[in-house]
Amino acid sequence: MHNILEVAKQAARIGGEVIQEGAGRRDSLDIEQKSLHDYVSEVDRNSEHAIKSHILSAFPTHKIVGEEYGEHAGLENIKWVIDPLDGTTNFLRGIPHYAVSIAVLRDGVPEYAVVFDPVKDEMFCASHGGGALLNDVPIGVSDLASSRGGLFATGVPFSGDNLTNIDRFTSTMVAILEQHTSGIRRLGSAALDLAYVAAGRYDGYWEANLKLWDIAAGVLLVTEAGGVVSDLRGNQDHLISGDVLAAGAGVHPDMARLTSRFYKG
Ligand code: IPD
Ligand code: CA
Ligand code: CA
Repeated sequence: MHNILEVAKQAARIGGEVIQEGAGRRDSLDIEQKSLHDYVSEVDRNSEHAIKSHILSAFPTHKIVGEEYGEHAGLENIKWVIDPLDGTTNFLRGIPHYAVSIAVLRDGVPEYAVVFDPVKDEMFCASHGGGALLNDVPIGVSDLASSRGGLFATGVPFSGDNLTNIDRFTSTMVAILEQHTSGIRRLGSAALDLAYVAAGRYDGYWEANLKLWDIAAGVLLVTEAGGVVSDLRGNQDHLISGDVLAAGAGVHPDMARLTSRFYKG
């Protein structure tokens, strides 16, 4: 009998090897534009293919959904959710900050999570009720008591529909800046942003319009590390809407008060 979390970690390492092999020949990769300023390369596809093959060799009946190949039908209420390369723009430009994200959901609820950064060899993982780990060492969210002075991360809208409501983003940014932060980062991988909240590296993170594969693993990492995750109104609809706010328990209420002023529905 295979252990789901172990298979997820092995699959993430396999995806990471595909990515790092591609990083060594960036100039010769096949790259396509999926939509305006949204690119996919053969590395994204090869990583997902390799991850999926590994999962199916252990669990042939499980459902899988991945960013690049969509749904793989399965018999059970267990679904693997894969982002084979989160941070493609970074990867394609030689910015060494990207990850593989794999979550396993039972009846829609994240039960296992892995976010693997193949550049820094950092394996973040969590299981429901079992805590969160970074390279096998337990991690916890920041214990900051309020949002004042915190270090935050976000995602800056950059194309398509995300730009329709740009003022909501800029207003939120100003409101957070008024908390006299230690800074706001935009590093370009939602999965790693959430993993860094789980590890206490950031005090909080917010971003709108993400996909399930961007956040499914990261949200379990944060809650298992003792943090709070919601959508930008403070409700529990983040896995459906893709709008996410993650922070330590002291910081989350302050951030939710600010983001909910601008994200009303
Ligand atoms: C992207 C990254 C980025 C976020 C984008 C995502 P991708 O994922 O997570 O940080 O701001 O919205 O689409 O396309 O590199 O897998
Ligand atoms: Ca992604
Ligand atoms: Ca991706």
